[in-house]
Amino acid sequence: MINLIKGFHDILPDQSLKWAFIVNKARNCLERFGFREIVTPIMEKTELFQRGIGRTTDIVEKEMYTFQDIGSDSLSLRPEATAGILRAVVEHSMLKREPVLKLFTIGPMFRRERPSKGRFRQFFQINAETMGDDSPLTDAETILASYTLLDDIGVGNFSLEINSVGCKNCRHLYRSALVKYLEPSLNSLCPDCQRRIETNPLRILDCKEPQCIAVSRDAPLITEFLDSSCRDHFEKVKLALTSIGVPFRLEPRLVRGLDYYTRTAFEFVHSQLGRTKALGGGGRYDSLISELGGPDVSGIGFGLGIERLAMNLPDDHADFLRNTDIFVAIIGAGPLNPGFELVSRLRRSGLSVEARYSGMSLKAQMKVADRLSAGWVVMIGDDELALGKATMRDMTTKRQFLVELDDIERVVRGEIF
Ligand code: HAM
Repeated sequence: MINLIKGFHDILPDQSLKWAFIVNKARNCLERFGFREIVTPIMEKTELFQRGIGRTTDIVEKEMYTFQDIGSDSLSLRPEATAGILRAVVEHSMLKREPVLKLFTIGPMFRRERPSKGRFRQFFQINAETMGDDSPLTDAETILASYTLLDDIGVGNFSLEINSVGCKNCRHLYRSALVKYLEPSLNSLCPDCQRRIETNPLRILDCKEPQCIAVSRDAPLITEFLDSSCRDHFEKVKLALTSIGVPFRLEPRLVRGLDYYTRTAFEFVHSQLGRTKALGGGGRYDSLISELGGPDVSGIGFGLGIERLAMNLPDDHADFLRNTDIFVAIIGAGPLNPGFELVSRLRRSGLSVEARYSGMSLKAQMKVADRLSAGWVVMIGDDELALGKATMRDMTTKRQFLVELDDIERVVRGEIF
């Protein structure tokens, strides 16, 4: 037997209705907020992610699936969607035609992280981006879109954390202050963070190693270093969120794992999954579009992990269960079988219909109908055939009666009997 790759997973049929439910809710919600769907390749040139996400992030340094294409560039499976969407936006000059552009995508991402509950190497994201509008109201609306989506899907027990990570100028000052604070404890940091103090000291605040958490506990906070325009922007985002009734908690240590963020950053934390496994997160990026060759406009977006959403929904919700309207019992094995003809007629009328053709006993077929949670069983035996009728059995009440063949659909729809 050849097994699945470590950290990858199958979505088996008993989970697929839950997945379809989440994806349908996402499409519906994002379209209500004015986003349109874009589908970009799952593989891009490695340089896109190095430039977009940042060469010194964990994602780019350690977690990408990268290979050298024969006679060509280094390619990588996408670890996230934003860089690919922006590449497409710039490549197709989309912002020229539509200066404020709202796009979403849903699909698989790949990160070579250590697998654990809720952490996979292939996982699916719902990802949305608004480009070309730097108003704080857009930050609030983006956060509202993700919040509404979580609500529509029915995920409970989550909270929203927000922060401002400032602009390049604020971060430059903050970086110096942080390094000054961390340097005396350099030897107490994990080997990765000892390196990060040179390359990307803000990431130390996000390190999960207990010794690094202890060292950075009293570190200076980015919010103390915001310049007046970043502070003003953040104040307006908070006011706007309050005005539309979105509850949030300020988390001045929230830095996020991608380097492109400026100003607003946010995360949705689930009470059971905790901070290291957020349901989703996002933020504003002021220079990413221009760094990728596009116009000098800002954007903001978010990503939600479908596995983590699915984990927090029950399996037995009515919407996630298979729905078979009718099971037609096949009596007799001939090719001109009235049951077989009925199956195709009922499906054409829009009902979901199941049958088994391998010559099972009626008792065995009733068991299959039960397993499929069929609402009705329809039987046409010799007696029914002689009358030109069918027997229908209501699988909930166990009531059984004869009906005209033409009336079956109306019975199922509850219009008669
Ligand atoms: P991110 O925080 O890296 O942001 O990922 C967003 C969400 O994807 C996470 O909160 C989580 O639900 C899910 N996720 C991430 N890694 C894994 C994993 N290994 N296994 C399962 N789920 C995972 C981004 O990716 C940004 N591109 C979001 C964004 C869009 N920011 C602006 N625009």
